[in-house]
Amino acid sequence: MTDPKGGTVLVVDLGAQYAQLIARRVREAHVYSEIVPRSITAEEIRDRVPIGVILSGGPASVYADDAYEIDEGILELGVPIFGICYGHQVIAHSLGGTVARTGTAEYGRTDMVGIGPGVLLEGLPERQSVWMSHGDSVTAAPEGFTVTASTEGSPVAAMENRSAGIYGVQFHPEVAHTPRGDEIFKHFLYEACGAPPSWTRHSIIEDSVAAVRSQVGDSQVICGLSGGVDSSVAAALVHEAIGDQLTCIFVDHGLLRAGEGVQVEETFRSHFDINLIHVKAQDRFLEALAGVADPEAKRKIIGELFIRVFEEVAAEVSGAKFLVQGTLYPDVIESGTGTAAKIKTHHNVGGLPDDMVFDLIEPLRDLFKDEVRAVGEELGLPAEIVWRQPFPGPGLAVRIIGDVTLERLEILRAADGIVVDEIRKAGLYEEIWQSFGVLPAIRSVGVQGDGRTYAYPLIVRAVMSEDAMTADWARLPYEVMESISSRVMNEVQGINRVAYDISSKPPSTIEWE
Ligand code: XMP
Repeated sequence: MTDPKGGTVLVVDLGAQYAQLIARRVREAHVYSEIVPRSITAEEIRDRVPIGVILSGGPASVYADDAYEIDEGILELGVPIFGICYGHQVIAHSLGGTVARTGTAEYGRTDMVGIGPGVLLEGLPERQSVWMSHGDSVTAAPEGFTVTASTEGSPVAAMENRSAGIYGVQFHPEVAHTPRGDEIFKHFLYEACGAPPSWTRHSIIEDSVAAVRSQVGDSQVICGLSGGVDSSVAAALVHEAIGDQLTCIFVDHGLLRAGEGVQVEETFRSHFDINLIHVKAQDRFLEALAGVADPEAKRKIIGELFIRVFEEVAAEVSGAKFLVQGTLYPDVIESGTGTAAKIKTHHNVGGLPDDMVFDLIEPLRDLFKDEVRAVGEELGLPAEIVWRQPFPGPGLAVRIIGDVTLERLEILRAADGIVVDEIRKAGLYEEIWQSFGVLPAIRSVGVQGDGRTYAYPLIVRAVMSEDAMTADWARLPYEVMESISSRVMNEVQGINRVAYDISSKPPSTIEWE
């Protein structure tokens, strides 16, 4: 992206998950940060003109045959550097200090004692708890460095060379188990780098608005709106930038959650006054799904029809040159393009045909999900949209096992609405990853009023997760289960039993389909 006014801190990724956490801590201190691969050269870094560079932790030993190396020229750029764990050892090793296998590896909470004044630990208690995870230790700091703290296993737990602007810590200030870690980051950012804490949700919007305006000029732009968080925030942001030049296309396949279609329409048309084409295509989708029970076949039918409808409507927006996409930063990092500017690439999005080539606008490509939500709130999107749980593109069709008929769809939509409503009332909606109803393809006997019923059960699924790769079933309070069960039974015709799914992922998946 164009670097924000306050400047950028680059986090050199020397080991998977640590770099992401560091980037987040820096951003939480209101300084923009980006993760860059460890292959980055000193020259490439210099060209980016960062205000600081952080070398992350990593799994390797500096003496391992396959040790991660960095371009040592990075340490001579005159840009403030902060090495963390493995990054700290890389600094020591490269500048003539000693890194040794002391035999006293440290893992977990460790007591650290301050032994001298310094920028990083300024104002912190002389003794503090820090989180360690390392085998090798820096036993002698390079010349010119002051050792500012040590632990039993790490004689050089923190060191700095203020005049060279190089700092290192053996522990992990980025994890919650180092309680004063955020202050250590702030000291590096505000004192060592002189970075103003100016990267806020407000400044993100200002920067994005300016970038979108200059990218688009006076061209027309379209945006596919799904009602989910990402596309909604992207649409609101682009609308803030270019107003009427944006047209949102909301292909409503009729497989949405209760009230969702109305809410998207109400939010964007009434509240934001956005040009919105709401295509109500439930009949078309149900017709295409008639008699189809195989989940993969359902997905394929829905995906293809979705594109066809989108394409038909998009063609009516004359002269649209740009398409808005809600790509997030983790997608960018995962696709290995951390430093590459992809914004201008011509893309054939989601299987759109070759003769419909758009330039992409990706206003969220520098943000993590929680930052997207903060921007959404700042833009005035309602909490129901900003904090909405993830929902699969093919919608309720993958939560209806077997045939998707209008009758079964309405049964599930009503029952699912009650599940969500009760979870919300219990104040659990935001801490639960996903909570929803599933309609299986079986029926069983029940008794209601004076009569026998032969109706569907509702399966309630609620899971806790970080990233949907793994999940555990949520321990819902019995009272919540009870109110879901009694309301579903009383209010939804066609259901005579409620069951709770107590499977984790793996071996199950989150969705039933
Ligand atoms: P599973 O069922 O594989 O789901 O454990 C993992 C996560 O992915 C979501 N999901 C989808 N999201 N389009 C989406 O945008 C889809 O087709 C789709 N299918 C599953 C699911 O809700 C869960 O969060």
